[in-house]
Amino acid sequence: MLETGVNKVIDEGRQGEATLVESTNSDKGKKLYIESYGCQMNFSDSEVVASILTKEGYSTTRNVDEADIVLINTCSIRDNAEQRVRNRLTDFKKRKEEQPEMVVGILGCMAERLKKSLLEEEKLVDLVAGPDAYRDLPNLIEDVGSGQKAVNVLLSRDETYADISPVRMDKGGVSAFVTIMRGCDNMCSFCVVPFTRGRERSRDPETIVQECKDLFDAGYREVTLLGQNVDSYRWNMTSKGEITEPGKPTVNFAQLMEKVALVSPDLRVRFSTSHPKDMTDDVLEVMAKYENICEYIHLPVQSGNTEVLGRMNRAYSREWYLDRISAINRIVPNCAISTDVITGFCGETEEEHQDTLSLMDEVKYDFAYMFKYSERPKTLAERRFEDDVPEDVKTRRLTEIIDKQMQHSLESHQKQVGEVQKILVEGPSKRNDAEWCGRNTRNSMVVFPKGNAEKGTYLNVKITSCTAATLLGEIVE
Ligand code: SAH
Ligand code: SF4
Ligand code: F3S
Repeated sequence: MLETGVNKVIDEGRQGEATLVESTNSDKGKKLYIESYGCQMNFSDSEVVASILTKEGYSTTRNVDEADIVLINTCSIRDNAEQRVRNRLTDFKKRKEEQPEMVVGILGCMAERLKKSLLEEEKLVDLVAGPDAYRDLPNLIEDVGSGQKAVNVLLSRDETYADISPVRMDKGGVSAFVTIMRGCDNMCSFCVVPFTRGRERSRDPETIVQECKDLFDAGYREVTLLGQNVDSYRWNMTSKGEITEPGKPTVNFAQLMEKVALVSPDLRVRFSTSHPKDMTDDVLEVMAKYENICEYIHLPVQSGNTEVLGRMNRAYSREWYLDRISAINRIVPNCAISTDVITGFCGETEEEHQDTLSLMDEVKYDFAYMFKYSERPKTLAERRFEDDVPEDVKTRRLTEIIDKQMQHSLESHQKQVGEVQKILVEGPSKRNDAEWCGRNTRNSMVVFPKGNAEKGTYLNVKITSCTAATLLGEIVE
């Protein structure tokens, strides 16, 4: 366990982390244990849940043995993400035989997807709450106590938890996630998120900026603005497209980011995820204008072939995507670029797979998250296409893509050896307590001997060597 109160149980990349939440407050003497799987959005939601329940008098614990209530915040993005949660729920079911009064609840995307079946048919949990139902948790917990069915999976068109100040997982931390919007209206054919998270809605920019100011005052030095498609952030419109406050100007993502960048030049700003169909030059221009907006963009491509992109319903072609890459290189020349790739999507031929490899050669990503296609129930792809690429072919293609990316990541790091870079110190390195780790603006992890430096400060570090995953360096004056 880390001292910060965040315990990374699993690290399967961006969409597969599991973390525990801890804070202190113990009016009722009841203890809450939360475990989170999935994306940063879930991680951020668990902080909202901790906030709602600590207000009700619960205190959070990292020790499941002393918990009165256990909440598992879950992910449905791929089948293996769900399997992992099922195994965990089975563990808790066994534990309940010894602690029958312990309440076990499921939150997040699997709760939304499977609704009451985990409670009624599989009898794995006592409580089910979807991503828009967390304000109802105190009532749901009471329902469990009085023997009623505790299920709320209603999706909302306007819930953004804007007024809830999240209980931060790492007290005394350096870097925090700030949710700026919820849901997704895109309907990529492979993706379960629109079904589990509902319609897209943006959060009031004033509450976002205030949260970032509060974080800065509490010592945080980096915020990551989160949304499934940050480029479609738009305030002053309802999800139905009506003006909610006539006369008040609309705020788009570029303008929001500028407001956050102005909180302090010492607050680093990052964001995730950009969608290639919506990423406009004005976002890049704001990035170029402010030194504290990090030179890093995550721009998921999914496939390098236009026909596959069509079947995926991504609404852009290979050429459009490459044009967006040129725009990044032109407007923010030092910008690092990462991506997501899916291999073995329905009907993917060998030539189409080769197009993904050749696109990777053209772009030379600094980093990538790479996945085998996993068919998800109810999605457009499940209804329209056959999941016809054999498992061994998916695996082989994934290996080819990973090998290529490893080479590109290594080359990107090798080019940085010899540079002096500005690093924000995040904490002790995982391997060696005498070393710090922190990120450069391009989001690469840099490890260096501690010296007299302190966590949460900026330092100049000279890069002396590297691997594909990490840069190594030493502090310079
Ligand atoms: N909203 C973000 C990411 C959402 S999910 C975006 O549009 O980029 C994160 C990543 O998981 C996706 O980019 C995709 O690469 C992967 N993913 C989503 N559904 C998947 C599926 N059914 N099988 C395999 N990978 C999937
Ligand atoms: Fe899923 Fe596409 Fe929305 Fe991303 S943009 S969450 S991949 S539907
Ligand atoms: Fe998973 Fe839901 Fe995030 S499906 S990736 S936890 S939005």
